[in-house]
Amino acid sequence: MTEPGRRVSYGKAVRGIEAGGPSARASRGPGRRLDPEVEQWLAGAGAAFPRSRSSLIPMLQSAQSGLGYLPGDAMTAIARHLVVSPVVVEGVASFYAQFRFHRPGRHRITVCTGTACYVRGSGKLLDDVQADLGIRSGETTADGAVSLESVSCFGACALAPVVVVDDEVLRQQTGEMVRKLVKDLVSGPPADGSRDEASPTIGRGVPG
Ligand code: FES
Repeated sequence: MTEPGRRVSYGKAVRGIEAGGPSARASRGPGRRLDPEVEQWLAGAGAAFPRSRSSLIPMLQSAQSGLGYLPGDAMTAIARHLVVSPVVVEGVASFYAQFRFHRPGRHRITVCTGTACYVRGSGKLLDDVQADLGIRSGETTADGAVSLESVSCFGACALAPVVVVDDEVLRQQTGEMVRKLVKDLVSGPPADGSRDEASPTIGRGVPG
């Protein structure tokens, strides 16, 4: 199997199959039981997809949505459903940055580092959050509490700098606001469940 998170080109994956390389041969091994969570997804949402190669990316998206990320068994399940080599599925998945290959933390912080946000301080903001959490963008804290990511634009540039915490979009953030949010996420929500008023939101979901 491709090393999780390692991005390879679709062409390289296909060439590997044609050459009968080690990963291609391994992928042709006898069927085995998959992770029960993956089996459950495949029997439900996964089974609804037509057995066509055009289903590949929608199935990857569905699996990630249902499972939170793309474990190796999910790609094996998709390969079996579409009757293609798992190497093809892994090659396509690794080509797109939207797919995650590691289990995400219980909370996700996404900092926009696009031009509008960057010139308003998101680069420093991201540095501060990385320092506070002790991880880099793309990583999850050792306790599984927080995953940190960065994106190049949320499409809400007038509200820069923009940070998304779980599904909540926060506008005009400062390092101080985000550091407080991170502290709350790591130590648990405020006892009364209230959000700090210094972190104005613009709603749930990624603006676009
Ligand atoms: S650059 Fe950050 S929302 Fe567009």
